[in-house]
Amino acid sequence: MKTVFINGSPKKKISASSYLSAMQRLFVKGEKVTKQLRNKNDYESIFEELKDADAIVLSLPLYVDGLPSHVLAFLEEAEMFFRENDLHPNLYCIANNGFIEGRQNEPLMQVLENFCFRAGINWRGGIGIGGGVMLNVTRFVFLVQTAVYIIMLIITGFQTGNYFHEGVISAFLQNVGVLLFFNAGVIFFFIRMGIAINRRGKDFGKHYTRILIPSFIFIPFANLFFLIYSLFKGGLFRGWLAKK
Ligand SMILES: Cc1cc2nc3c(=O)[nH]c(=O)nc-3n(C[C@H](O)[C@H](O)[C@H](O)COP(=O)(O)O)c2cc1C
Repeated sequence: MKTVFINGSPKKKISASSYLSAMQRLFVKGEKVTKQLRNKNDYESIFEELKDADAIVLSLPLYVDGLPSHVLAFLEEAEMFFRENDLHPNLYCIANNGFIEGRQNEPLMQVLENFCFRAGINWRGGIGIGGGVMLNVTRFVFLVQTAVYIIMLIITGFQTGNYFHEGVISAFLQNVGVLLFFNAGVIFFFIRMGIAINRRGKDFGKHYTRILIPSFIFIPFANLFFLIYSLFKGGLFRGWLAKK
């Protein structure tokens, strides 16, 4: 069984779509291929892999309550490709959005369902994930935490001769537990969708989840994050200072 994972984020690296697709990959058996879909130059190599694919997992961001335009353009070509080659793979989707409600991906899912109908391929459902940006950040928080705790272990090791200080290890495990909890809803549905894919195209249906943080905590942190991000990108005052 061959599954092709298509990452539909226009970002070159470290997109939420690539993070989520890599996590889903862990729960899928058989031959697995991952492709990037950023522009027209990617079509040929993707179609090459789709010729003998049993399942496709399209991981993509939500843009203005819909699909990114470069993915729509690809789907127009893909519709012809599937029909002309008489191919009927199973399509699953992982849609993520910046706001916290995963349900905002519902219209995107409907577009994909209609696409499958037109292209003659099998719509098998997908997962709509809220707080995609923040979920993506958790992997970097994990890496930073790991580095910090390793340094702390080395320092306490030098001071006490014990390189496996229980207090440091337990604090690290607690923090890992918190990060895992944030991702728990996503992991739960990835396991279930993995089972559906492994059962050769079982219908999964549409499911919605989000980063497991209460909204009243998510919103101020998201505001702060985008304020800082915007400052680094020079975006906050760009509109004011730009020549009209
Ligand atoms: C042009 C654009 C439009 C967006 N529209 C929405 C939207 O309608 N709703 C939403 O919740 N997030 C929206 N977002 C946020 C993205 O869905 C979010 O950042 C996502 O995690 C990006 O995924 P990626 O890293 O895989 O590209 C938008 C982002 C961009 C750049």
